Amino acid sequence: MSMTVEDSAPGREGFPRPFPNTPTNVLEQFRLDGKVVVVNGAADGIGLAVAQAMAEAGANVALWYNSNDAAIEKSQELASLHNVKSAAYKVDVSESTQVSSTMERVVEDFGKIDVFVANAGMAISKPILEQTLDEYQKQMSVNVDGIVYCAKYAGHVFQRQGFGNLIVTSSMSAHIVNVPVDQPVYNATKAFVTHFGKSLAREWRDFARVNIVSPGFFDTKMGAGPDCLNEAYRMSSLGRQGHVKEIKGLYLYLASDASSYMTGSDVLIDGGYVLP
Ligand SMILES: NC(=O)c1ccc[n+]([C@@H]2O[C@H](COP(=O)([O-])OP(=O)(O)OC[C@H]3O[C@@H](n4cnc5c(N)ncnc54)[C@H](OP(=O)(O)O)[C@@H]3O)[C@@H](O)[C@H]2O)c1
Repeated sequence: MSMTVEDSAPGREGFPRPFPNTPTNVLEQFRLDGKVVVVNGAADGIGLAVAQAMAEAGANVALWYNSNDAAIEKSQELASLHNVKSAAYKVDVSESTQVSSTMERVVEDFGKIDVFVANAGMAISKPILEQTLDEYQKQMSVNVDGIVYCAKYAGHVFQRQGFGNLIVTSSMSAHIVNVPVDQPVYNATKAFVTHFGKSLAREWRDFARVNIVSPGFFDTKMGAGPDCLNEAYRMSSLGRQGHVKEIKGLYLYLASDASSYMTGSDVLIDGGYVLP
């Protein structure tokens, strides 16, 4: 950053960089034919909808799951429905060695990774005064350690390849102190995720884009529970939770050439929940 106009006057070698060689037709920009996309937390919910979006756009997709082996059948379905290559991998993202070895297995199986969607997450929604330290550590291990491990090992692949694209699932709870259930640890893990993603956008500026998606309540296993369902309807300007089909287009946009000038952005998609 320059401190004065004089400081900023000298040009920098290689700048401005050229515009990317991408299609001008917007629907062509959204195509992902021949790309390889990895999605974790892909057996169900937002992650499955994202994996479907990528396959619908022509990408080969690697579905990572932890405990829900429905991902195996889902990946077979995607391959036959969309004529793409797809495979499922069992990976606990809180285990760094599983993340690093599976990252390399995907590269061996698919040849490269164009996009990594770090979407796995979990919540134990309780006030800190009622939360055990084990519950705190568990959330940190998946939502913080898991994102760091996935980003680090995907980043090594991106750097080696000279290209890449990381999309991170954060939450509106990184923006607001969500109500009515107190869940400070979950909120703070997602604040980490958002700022970590923005920081990587700068660190990886020469070879990869990084963007963040911050969903409001979506109707999944991690959506509004019984204690906050009515408040979720009240707070959302649209008066409901989102359906996962309403978020997949955003991930596709971020994964595709349609967003080639976008990095370091954090996109809220919450039906207007954080407006008041
Ligand atoms: N739904 C919402 O209202 C909402 C709002 C804001 C943010 N989010 C975020 O959206 C993301 C997806 O959640 P969702 O709503 O789609 O709920 P979901 O269907 O329960 O997805 C959560 C996923 O995380 C995976 N996961 C949990 N622990 C893991 C671990 N140790 N290793 C690997 N994967 C693990 C789960 O995999 P398995 O099932 O295979 O164990 C599951 O697929 C999460 O990061 C969540 O925080 C959701």
